Amino acid sequence: MSLALVTGATSGIGRAFARHLARAHHDLIVVARTRHRLEELAEDLKRESGVRVEILPADLSTAEGCRSVEDRLAAPPFVDLLVNNAGIMLREPFPYTRDADEERLLAVNVRAVLRLTHAALPVMIERETGRIVNVASFSAHGSGGLATTYPASKSWVLAFSEAVGRSAGVRRAGVGIMALLPGFTRTELHERSGIDLTGLPRWMWLDADRVADAALRDL
Ligand SMILES: NC(=O)c1ccc[n+]([C@@H]2O[C@H](COP(=O)([O-])OP(=O)(O)OC[C@H]3O[C@@H](n4cnc5c(N)ncnc54)[C@H](OP(=O)(O)O)[C@@H]3O)[C@@H](O)[C@H]2O)c1
Repeated sequence: MSLALVTGATSGIGRAFARHLARAHHDLIVVARTRHRLEELAEDLKRESGVRVEILPADLSTAEGCRSVEDRLAAPPFVDLLVNNAGIMLREPFPYTRDADEERLLAVNVRAVLRLTHAALPVMIERETGRIVNVASFSAHGSGGLATTYPASKSWVLAFSEAVGRSAGVRRAGVGIMALLPGFTRTELHERSGIDLTGLPRWMWLDADRVADAALRDL
């Protein structure tokens, strides 16, 4: 039995990760902003899989929110798998966005991934065990179009994961870092950001459960 921490666990791909991990008998720490959704998720997972679930409400767009998750990552019992999944998208294309929204996107999609990886890695290296999954996007390869700065943030997640994963200390310790690049997946992401994708053909859509399942197999 190991311990996994999933950010953005209350919906979409993060929720699917939490469910798959619980079914595989991993205890969980689930992170998102909305406490009542975390409580419902924890109850569901405990009932379905009998694992231990700790809820950690935190807004990862804020420094305090990141700090509370960092503190948890640095304390025993230590996390064996970190899934940096929480991410947001903006509706307007750059430069017609507000600075405050762009900064929020950078804070959740980039800064939180950096900070939580920074908090988790030293412990994993010291223990010579651990895995990190950073959820990027197929748009990390520069497809542009939708929500301009979103793909740029996901390119950073991909480049960061590859660079850190190849670093000598991480490899010597046997710690693994994987970037996950899903295609369009049915979740709350596009609706939350007000992006209308109803015209997208059905065959282009992925199912969040299958994304999480494939990711965990690859890992
Ligand atoms: N859906 C797609 O087509 C797609 C494709 C490629 C990549 N992705 C990536 O997959 C990841 C998961 O997205 P999803 O599609 O599953 O989205 P989603 O259904 O909107 O879920 C987002 C999750 O993140 C949490 N969250 C949002 N803002 C947060 C914040 N400031 N602090 C902490 N938690 C926050 C949400 O819970 P609260 O609102 O309660 O905080 C929710 O649990 C993201 O990184 C996204 O970029 C998605």
